[in-house]
Amino acid sequence: MPVITTVDDLRRIYRRRVPKMFYEYCETGSWTEQTFRDNSADFSQIRLRQRVAVDMSDRSTRTTMIGEDVAMPVALAPVGLTGMQHADGEILAARAAERFGVPFTLTTMSICSIEDVAEHTTKPFWFQLYVMRDQDFLRRIIARAKAAQVSALVVTLDLQMLGQRHRDIKNGLSAPPKPTLANIVNLATRWRWGLGMLGTKRRRFGNIVGHIDSVSDPADVMAWNAEQFDPRLDWKQIEAIRDIWGGKLILKGIMEPEDAVMAAKIGADAIVVSNHGGRQLDGAVSSIRALQPVLEAVGDRVEVWLDSGIRSGQDVLKAVAMGARGTMIGRAYVYGLGAMGEAGVTRALEVIHMELDKSMAFCGHRDIREVRRDILRVPKGFSGEWD
Ligand SMILES: Cc1cc2nc3c(=O)[nH]c(=O)nc-3n(C[C@H](O)[C@H](O)[C@H](O)COP(=O)(O)O)c2cc1C
Repeated sequence: MPVITTVDDLRRIYRRRVPKMFYEYCETGSWTEQTFRDNSADFSQIRLRQRVAVDMSDRSTRTTMIGEDVAMPVALAPVGLTGMQHADGEILAARAAERFGVPFTLTTMSICSIEDVAEHTTKPFWFQLYVMRDQDFLRRIIARAKAAQVSALVVTLDLQMLGQRHRDIKNGLSAPPKPTLANIVNLATRWRWGLGMLGTKRRRFGNIVGHIDSVSDPADVMAWNAEQFDPRLDWKQIEAIRDIWGGKLILKGIMEPEDAVMAAKIGADAIVVSNHGGRQLDGAVSSIRALQPVLEAVGDRVEVWLDSGIRSGQDVLKAVAMGARGTMIGRAYVYGLGAMGEAGVTRALEVIHMELDKSMAFCGHRDIREVRRDILRVPKGFSGEWD
């Protein structure tokens, strides 16, 4: 077992073990990837204030997110095709999250279905909905989430169409991979991944295949998806989904105060300041820079969370100190999953937790709920002296 001390250690192992097509699907942003890079780079612009001679015993990173107890203010974000990063990936990640005490979010675009994940876990998880044109599918998938005891619906607002990611097009991304010469050559060096995939039946989009008459084979799913994301999505439709769902609602992909105000108005329980990990609108600011104006607009009315760019517990600490009630991580846990399955996701969470806990203590705090902006040194104009 290799010695893993950082999330980046997991990324390096992940890169060696998972087919190039899926590594690049994860480790990519749209167009020039400027926003993808800024998301992480901007965290490192913020510095921490070291405090001394403060009692650092009996620390706690426990808090709540939409009323649910969490071991630390971190949830696993919805990530498409997780079951292609490792056989049964969604089930393994959900189990690791459950054991660690943090929420897991299953995407619409998962390989393991909602029912499958529910059957292999013991606590409720969250389900992320992509709003599709097919209203019948939409109603049925919400009903399936309810039947599976999902405890919150995460509606993603920043993907009414796909941002162009060059490498996915060049790699011919599909699930499962097509048997082209390039794929066969690459898969030959990823035997561990291949053996896992041979050992599972879950190799297709589990929430879709078998639930739509026109979709029976993987090639059809890609085509179905491409035309199904609903470009007409608006606040009226979000309200309608809120009413059909009737439970806790999280709106993800909000970057601007005007949109945050709308989200608060329709009664969202939480919003996620997110640019989809730099995979949609390239050229958008990093989410850590976008946080402050959103907090000023709605911070007293709705829980404001943040994702995009988090690779360490220090990033979580900085987001919380800036005012986020919670965070989500995407790639950081996928690296762990691709590297070592369930144990890898657990390791990613352990690393992040340890970094968060110790850094909080070095900044003079014992309870994450008491951390405030005064532990930070934030560059002047960080949250926008833009015209
Ligand atoms: C490979 C990959 C697939 C993703 N798929 C989805 C998805 O299906 N639904 C969704 O709402 N967000 C999706 N996202 C965005 C994540 O939920 C999250 O916003 C993003 O990963 C946060 O950035 P980070 O990866 O830097 O932590 C995906 C992100 C990645 C990296």
